[in-house]
Amino acid sequence: MAEEIEIKEGLQGVYIAKSEICKVDGQEGKLYYRGYKIEDLANYSSYEEVCYLLLYGKLPNSKELADFNKKMKEERVIPENTKDIIRKFSKDSQTLDVLRTAMSSLSADDSKPYSEDENENIEKAIKIITKTATIAAAIGRIKEGKEILEPDNSLNHSANFLYMLTGEKPDKDSEKLMDVMFILHAEHSSNASTFATLVACSTLADIYAGVTAGVAALKGPLHGGADEAAVKMMMEIGNPDNTENYIEEALAGKKKIMGFGHRVYKTYDPRARILKSYLDKIKGNSNEEINALIEISLRAEKMMIEKLGKSHGIWPNVDFFSGPLYMHLNIKPELFDTVFASSRTVGWCSHVIEYWRNNKLFRPLEEFIGKIDLEYLPIDKR
Ligand code: SDX
Repeated sequence: MAEEIEIKEGLQGVYIAKSEICKVDGQEGKLYYRGYKIEDLANYSSYEEVCYLLLYGKLPNSKELADFNKKMKEERVIPENTKDIIRKFSKDSQTLDVLRTAMSSLSADDSKPYSEDENENIEKAIKIITKTATIAAAIGRIKEGKEILEPDNSLNHSANFLYMLTGEKPDKDSEKLMDVMFILHAEHSSNASTFATLVACSTLADIYAGVTAGVAALKGPLHGGADEAAVKMMMEIGNPDNTENYIEEALAGKKKIMGFGHRVYKTYDPRARILKSYLDKIKGNSNEEINALIEISLRAEKMMIEKLGKSHGIWPNVDFFSGPLYMHLNIKPELFDTVFASSRTVGWCSHVIEYWRNNKLFRPLEEFIGKIDLEYLPIDKR
């Protein structure tokens, strides 16, 4: 009897593994990293502490955090050949392509890229996480025709990132906002880029190959590219009074409004709620362009929720409000996805380390619907 075949497009609703890293409650709009509410982590934690939590599965005590911070600072510097790649490719390439290439080169600096030892892989993860932030900042500098800056180890991860990108040490509010952006983008269960990372590492490819697969998957506007696409839409709207008409026409033309909708959240993305609260904090002390983008985002949000929220389960996601906030931090739209990738390295690495404890090669099936046993005709007979 022919086997009953059910295609799950996009693996919608399919569970691929058990995990203790991240719970995404799509119905209630709740998010937990290792059991801690994302709101508590955004309010009280730091990106360094969240990296420790995701990698080791528990919050560090003060000595553990001090040792971890020291390790991250020691690993910030990137190899000269990685800088050469960034200088060579940045001018004409998209920033995430440069990041993917530069990140991939980090394995050349590791005499043993693949390891079965969990502690060795956590060391590799720390290298990847902290060096990727340096790479992201370096790409931003070269894109602006400026020289790459060396890390300043008197600063924490987020402040140092902004310093390496802008050349200025950020004020406390900017440092906190950057840290919240890094925390909110750090991890999100089996999203497309994490899944790509797991597929690569399920073949026992090394962790560098895995995160390179993750960066590649993150690039699309349906995933990590949405924050740039959303802010470009806001820039296209230009005048806040054009917002409603723009959204109306876009929806009528069956266009997707970037920054809304989610495969799992069928209510407000809790990360978007946190980011929206920061819009209020920066409003008024940003420039005119950003203040206009903020007003446009709030009017677009109101209209989209009225039109597609309750009725279709399409709500703001993490990417919608990120744009004005990144721009307030002097991060240009072309660099948004690269900053996202830099933050998400900890999520990718944490899932690989957990998955390798009970590794199983990913090899799904396709239902073949083509023809078979065709006669092979010589070319002069075709
Ligand atoms: C991230 O998975 C993660 O966790 C990802 C992420 C993470 O932290 O890793 O949370 C980060 O990627 C957030 C999502 C960023 N992407 C966007 O904002 C792009 C815009 N959103 C859509 O493309 C869409 O909502 C997806 C891709 C995010 C989810 O799409 P699904 O689950 O595959 O659903 P679908 O595309 O099949 O949409 C279902 C219906 C369709 O209408 P019909 O064809 O059935 O009539 O909803 C409509 C869609 O057209 N729809 C939208 C919409 N999103 C879905 N209509 C207008 N605007 C939108 N944004």
